[in-house]
Amino acid sequence: MASYDLIVIGAGPGGYVCAIKAAQLGLKTAVVEGRETLGGTCLNVGCIPSKALLHATHALHEAEHNFAKMGLKAETPTVDWDQMLAYKRDSVGQNTGGIEFLFKKNKIDWLKGWGSIPEAGKVKVGDETHEAKHIVIASGSVPSSIPNVEIDEKVVVTSTGALELGRIPEKMVVIGAGVIGLELGSVYRRLGSEVTVVEYLDAITPGMDAEVARNFQKILTKQGLKFVLGSAVQGVAVEGEKATVTWKSRKDDSEESLTADCVLVATGRKPYVEGLGLEELGVEMTDRGQIKIDDHFKTSVDGVYAIGDAVPGLMLAHKAEDEGVAIAEILAGQKGHVNYEVIPGVVYTHPEVATVGKTEEQLKEEGRGYKVGKFPFLGNARAKANFSAEGFVKILADKKTDRILGAHIIGPMAGDLIHEVCVAMEFGAAAEDLARTCHAHPTYSEGVREAALALGDGAIHA
Ligand code: NAI
Repeated sequence: MASYDLIVIGAGPGGYVCAIKAAQLGLKTAVVEGRETLGGTCLNVGCIPSKALLHATHALHEAEHNFAKMGLKAETPTVDWDQMLAYKRDSVGQNTGGIEFLFKKNKIDWLKGWGSIPEAGKVKVGDETHEAKHIVIASGSVPSSIPNVEIDEKVVVTSTGALELGRIPEKMVVIGAGVIGLELGSVYRRLGSEVTVVEYLDAITPGMDAEVARNFQKILTKQGLKFVLGSAVQGVAVEGEKATVTWKSRKDDSEESLTADCVLVATGRKPYVEGLGLEELGVEMTDRGQIKIDDHFKTSVDGVYAIGDAVPGLMLAHKAEDEGVAIAEILAGQKGHVNYEVIPGVVYTHPEVATVGKTEEQLKEEGRGYKVGKFPFLGNARAKANFSAEGFVKILADKKTDRILGAHIIGPMAGDLIHEVCVAMEFGAAAEDLARTCHAHPTYSEGVREAALALGDGAIHA
């Protein structure tokens, strides 16, 4: 038995970042993790492997569609699927190995196994019980399915199975037009699969600024993804190596079905809290199965805290990371804080979509006076040269004060571009502050400045 200042349960982005920060602040820290490798869902079966496949298939897209235009004459590449998966595994391995190195560097103990909390101040891993002044639960989430759909991770898969398919499917049905469905749907579309996305709502990417979502859907449709919107999937029937998905139109109750080689169920995720012993411990939960916490991440049990996907809020790796830092600071006697108003969200398709702050719909609902500044990438020299002129930057600012309230970008490197707006928002900047900041030419970032200019006297290149 060992004794620690802090034991973190779970080594995903929330947990491992929390542990490193706590160790840096002088806390004796251990992390419990039952997977063979550190990094949680994000590094092992989420963000990182999906980005490797998105990168590889985007390169394929460039070779197929743009190489010849640039005078690059080569045979169009063929896909060696096994090698592509090996590349993906290598990317994962480098990253999970990196966390192991950081644990050693920061003298963090990895308690290997699945942990539970028999009582406040104690964490059980296997046969051993360890003591901790503080416990942080960062146990993450798992895919959640829908009724009449049985996951086998072969024909009917979650994102986990979709990252390790035995072969590239000819036909794929994706249930749910959220981030997972669209990112992985894009991967297989670029690999030649016929991809149909069935979505319950009348628009893709729920919660996204509606104008951006509409534009996004148009671009993805042009890339060959098919969308069936306003339709509730009723069930999936598997026969051998095929599966038939049946859905019902919400408008007129008519039923349709489609048979495919692979069905990706991307209908959301739910907190992973099984086996932690939370009920016996008396930890209060929400009616959606999330761990209830107060403003300082404390659960209903003293000394036990929770962060990340297991608590209410956005299920995003970087939100969990920020919560990990904040709770480590609080436990070290500092003032940890997360600004939930400025958390970017990115969809890593091509083009990327990135958003931060309020959508136009939210501002309307709040009855807030706002103005819109927009700039299309068609007016951006770099984007045009790089065959990346689809999409636009949209910035929303307060009508009276010019303070930036939100930004929504669909276009090249949107996931990187969004951060200058995030910094501006953190500093309470006005759109004019962005507009008056010199931006290097030629860069995609000029698109952000131009949208800010559009909120004042007008964009220069539009
Ligand atoms: P999601 O919640 O984003 O989307 C699920 C979609 O499925 C919704 O649009 C919903 O209306 C639809 N749906 C539910 N039941 C249905 C039915 N019976 N028939 C048809 N459609 C149905 O969930 P997703 O994409 O699985 O992602 C899970 C979580 O992981 C999200 O919180 C997401 O933000 C996060 N994530 C974030 C990524 C990123 O930031 N790039 C990447 C991957 C996941």
